[in-house]
Amino acid sequence: MDENGLSEEEVLAKLSFFSDSDTNFKKVLSSMCTVPHPIAVRAYHQFIHSNVGDPGLFQGTAKMEKEVIEIVAGFLNHPNPATAFGHLTSGGTESNIEAVLHMKNRFVAFQGNSGSSEPRKSEESKAERPETERPETERPGTERPETERPETERPETEKPETEKPKKPNLVLPKTAHFSFKKIANMFGIELKKAEVDSQSRVIPNSAESQIDENTIGLIGIAGNTEFGACDPIDKLSEIALKYRLPLHIDAAFGGFVYPFLDPARSGFDSKFSFDLPGVSSVSADPHKMGLSVIPAGILVFRDRSFLDLSLDKIKVKTPYLTSRYQSTLTGTRPGAAVAATYAVMKHLGREGYRKNVAYCMDLTDHFQKELERTGLKPYLKPQINIVTVNIGAGPDSGTGPGKGAKEIEAAREKTDKIRSLLLEKYGWNVSAAKTIPALRFVLMPHVTKEDINGVISDLKKLLDDD
Ligand SMILES: Cc1ncc(COP(=O)(O)O)c(C=O)c1O
Repeated sequence: MDENGLSEEEVLAKLSFFSDSDTNFKKVLSSMCTVPHPIAVRAYHQFIHSNVGDPGLFQGTAKMEKEVIEIVAGFLNHPNPATAFGHLTSGGTESNIEAVLHMKNRFVAFQGNSGSSEPRKSEESKAERPETERPETERPGTERPETERPETERPETEKPETEKPKKPNLVLPKTAHFSFKKIANMFGIELKKAEVDSQSRVIPNSAESQIDENTIGLIGIAGNTEFGACDPIDKLSEIALKYRLPLHIDAAFGGFVYPFLDPARSGFDSKFSFDLPGVSSVSADPHKMGLSVIPAGILVFRDRSFLDLSLDKIKVKTPYLTSRYQSTLTGTRPGAAVAATYAVMKHLGREGYRKNVAYCMDLTDHFQKELERTGLKPYLKPQINIVTVNIGAGPDSGTGPGKGAKEIEAAREKTDKIRSLLLEKYGWNVSAAKTIPALRFVLMPHVTKEDINGVISDLKKLLDDD
């Protein structure tokens, strides 16, 4: 640090130097974030000093946060939004971390880590077995001396060295966001990945077959990162109820899209949130399609009682704050993000968000039309405003049956090359899909039809030259 500070003008000039190399979202078709709504920015400034992690000092912000959760629970079809429990987070990653942490805590509190990887019994199959057929450990009042118990029930110290306890596991679609990889590393959880169908939606049977005694919960995705597909959450909800497992829905992107989609136009009429009884928590990010500022994520649980078994493990006394306890992952939390989210939701209302989503869906339709004029087409018919385009070896190519590893590798190389050229030659930021060699376009509110015409025309030039 310099000995003497700089003048305000000097500092501002330095800031401009840095911000000049940041994007202003022009020509950005790769980001799931966008320019925040002006009212969100105003609210952010007004509450810039607010710490909602110290709710006694910032009682107004704390009330606002409660209202935000109730509003979000409302459009996520919670049967009684006032009883929903949640808070703002820094985004989808933190929301997923916290949801899974609660799952793990519940699992440990309920049954401990048995070390078994036996398939988890559904409630029906447990109930069906007569008392005499149940293993002794499941019969009430059956106590055996320590030495007679099977090894799986003995304390860790007595187990043979070779036998390691099985990790708790989480069953999730293989399309899940990479934040779950961080979670697995952080909490020592195994990820059991379920297969997806040709439309990138999880196959319920595949998810069910992954469940065993060490499964702590299930994940469903409403708006997956790669294709914007929505899993059949109704089926996952049934599975969750059958095995009495918590089900967290990662709607970081889709949470501010699906509730406002016109079903007549999109053909999407599936339920994905709290109107399905098996759904225990949902994450939805205001800093993506919610038009709020960064960082703004929302994590909502069906109700507080769901967390009874877990909250105590996270809850800590906070002697030097105005509240007695804190049970969020982070401590100091930006009240400004709460205010920004509150402001934009109040200002737009459902109608405003419907218009926002309709605008992005218009872009998506326009993108498809323009793309098809060039002879290309989306890899999957986009359900929401994410489009992937396979340019590897013709419009219908992909990783589908019949494609050899060599062809896929070649398609990937070509995709990377075209992606780089779009940026270097024409200034377009587009992203690449992960599971297939394809370009990926996210059509956010800052994108225009002119952008789409421009990027597709430049893409065509590059492909013609290639
Ligand atoms: C489905 C999904 N979940 C979680 C995340 C992580 O969100 P964040 O980057 O805000 O932590 C993303 C980000 O793209 C996402 O698409």
